[in-house]
Amino acid sequence: MSNVYVTRRIPQPGLEILEAACDRVEVNPEDRYLTREELLRAVRGRDGVLCLLTDVIDDEVLAAAGPQCRVFANYAVGFNNIDVAAATRRGIMITNTPGVLTDSTADLAWALIMSVARRVVEGDACVRSGKWDGWGPMQFLGQDVYEKTLGIVGAGRIGTATALRSVGFRMKVLYTSSRPNPELDAIGGRRVDLLALLRESDFVSIHVALNEQTRHLIGRKQLALMKPTAYLINTARGPVVDEKALVEALRERRIAGAGLDVYEEEPRITPGLTDLPNVVCLPHLGSATEATRAKMATMAATNLVAAVRGERPPNLVNPEVLEG
Ligand code: DGY
Repeated sequence: MSNVYVTRRIPQPGLEILEAACDRVEVNPEDRYLTREELLRAVRGRDGVLCLLTDVIDDEVLAAAGPQCRVFANYAVGFNNIDVAAATRRGIMITNTPGVLTDSTADLAWALIMSVARRVVEGDACVRSGKWDGWGPMQFLGQDVYEKTLGIVGAGRIGTATALRSVGFRMKVLYTSSRPNPELDAIGGRRVDLLALLRESDFVSIHVALNEQTRHLIGRKQLALMKPTAYLINTARGPVVDEKALVEALRERRIAGAGLDVYEEEPRITPGLTDLPNVVCLPHLGSATEATRAKMATMAATNLVAAVRGERPPNLVNPEVLEG
């Protein structure tokens, strides 16, 4: 008898996989995330839970699920919302959805690069407001993107895909990575340390996972190293950037602007950020295309079903759990 829970409605292909393979599938009936109390209650007695990056899965939640629980399948590639060590201790598998959202997220990083540099959102707001009085030589002057330097902080899958898209713009690519990246080296990319990347880049795009080493990786000191004409782009995780320091840097025009898809305490936004004209703020849309979200649903459901059946799920984050 497999009994699984989905913490918020996901695209149909994922639900169909669960319904075909599990005896009982319960989905949060409301399109909102569960409160802490609701989450603790909802996971009780489940064999598997399909959860979201907005669900904090800590030891208390894992314990509440009960000793029969085999898996928490995260509907995201990032899994900083889950205490993986606690899950491993409890023998619970954790899975994620790598690969399928790489291109959509890289596309969105570019949407932000173009939007901030060319003042797309400000221009749109001006036209909509009815205040536009016709073409003007000094209106909404932005910065060119082509032939500039793109700095990729964290050249993993998404960072690499973002950098590869710069070829058409004839950009110079700098990247940080613990090891050389042959795909980026092939387009003339140069592996540098973070300090050099911050000093030399016109666009600094963040693509590292959130963990204790990367929390506030970009703070006051790092922002001070950036060129006053440079832009910061974040499609990774909000807490990688110290948002208060970012607001100060933007307000004082110590950097030219920022394009953000993620925030330190989503959905709360640090006061002051949305008052600034040199910022484009999106509501965590990196993977938000119909096709990508459907693939994520299929992947998360496939992971969950495999684990509940006692098989090794394709995207297991904590393989140690099978070693004991
Ligand atoms: C992820 O999968 O980690 C993304 O942030 C979801 O859009």
